[in-house]
Amino acid sequence: MIVTLTANPSLDRTVALDSVLRPGEVQQAVSVREDAGGKGVNVSRAIVAAGVPTLALVPLNPHDPYADLLRETGVPTRSTAVAGRVRANIALTDPAGTTTKINLPGARLTIADRRAAIADTVAASRGARWLVLAGSVPPGVGDDFYADVIDAVREAPDAPLIAVDTSGAALAVVVERSRPDLIKPNDAELAQLAGLGGALGGSGPDVADLVAEVVRVGAGLVPGSVGSALVTLGSLGAVLLAEGGAWFAAPPSIRAVSTVGAGDSSLAGYVLAAVAGAGPAERLERAVRYGSAAASLPGTQIPTPADLPTGEVRAVALVAERTTPAGIAP
Ligand SMILES: Nc1ncnc2c1ncn2[C@@H]1O[C@H](COP(=O)(O)OP(=O)(O)OP(=O)(O)O)[C@@H](O)[C@H]1O
Ligand SMILES: [Mg+2]
Repeated sequence: MIVTLTANPSLDRTVALDSVLRPGEVQQAVSVREDAGGKGVNVSRAIVAAGVPTLALVPLNPHDPYADLLRETGVPTRSTAVAGRVRANIALTDPAGTTTKINLPGARLTIADRRAAIADTVAASRGARWLVLAGSVPPGVGDDFYADVIDAVREAPDAPLIAVDTSGAALAVVVERSRPDLIKPNDAELAQLAGLGGALGGSGPDVADLVAEVVRVGAGLVPGSVGSALVTLGSLGAVLLAEGGAWFAAPPSIRAVSTVGAGDSSLAGYVLAAVAGAGPAERLERAVRYGSAAASLPGTQIPTPADLPTGEVRAVALVAERTTPAGIAP
């Protein structure tokens, strides 16, 4: 069983306009589509599609329209009853292919909601292999929310392995306090975690320099503060840093259609490989395959095993001491 917690879910409303967006004017929409969004929900969608048991946890008002959309995903869910409504994130698409996104703040959780969400996560994690904590934390719970969840879950003798995919202060606190078994930052999130501002420098413009920089920065985290780090690099692929070494994998050749959910799918691919008993190199390969499959699918569609690209994905072992990673053409 793989349990996911989406602390700050969103109802994703995509509005297709009949003409190019004109601020300040009244315009007609040709269609509207609503999806149950949320990073943990996405991870669970990919896991369900692979035929592996999962449970998605969400703080949710039982009368919230989000509950109906969540049911339609077919993902087994358990909600912690809270008072507030799930936020709506709005995407305006126009015929020119421009997408304008407006993200609303989440509903504020009370102290009682916070306590109930932690208790429900502890109960649902009993006997699970992995717990995935994914996405931003909602207003009201504080940046130490995920760290408190991890502490509470690990009080049980058979606690699951714990993966965290979040950013900013919430990620910093988890890494500082709770040594998660896996984190899944992208390059910008890793840079921020390492106090390097918004971007990893690298010594030059090629992928080999970026990968070397990820390995250098990641070595300060793994294995001391984090068990493993899956650092995704968008269209360039991903790096896995683990106790036994570091690996890089480039994506297969695909036509990128919508990268929404790519990071969540990578994380699902990693965890699916891990529960199947795969070692680090194969976990990374599966993560890249899943991320790239998501990027090749339209909208918020999450990949099934049948959607995985057939092109080769090969993890290359990296040598930490070298400035140019072994096996990558500069
Ligand atoms: N344009 C692309 N072409 C091929 N593969 C891609 C592309 N964009 C993303 N991917 C795949 O998806 C994985 C995750 O992408 P990315 O690093 O953008 O995640 P992310 O920034 O966490 O995304 P999000 O949090 O928005 O889902 C990459 O490692 C890669 O395998
Ligand atoms: Mg991400």
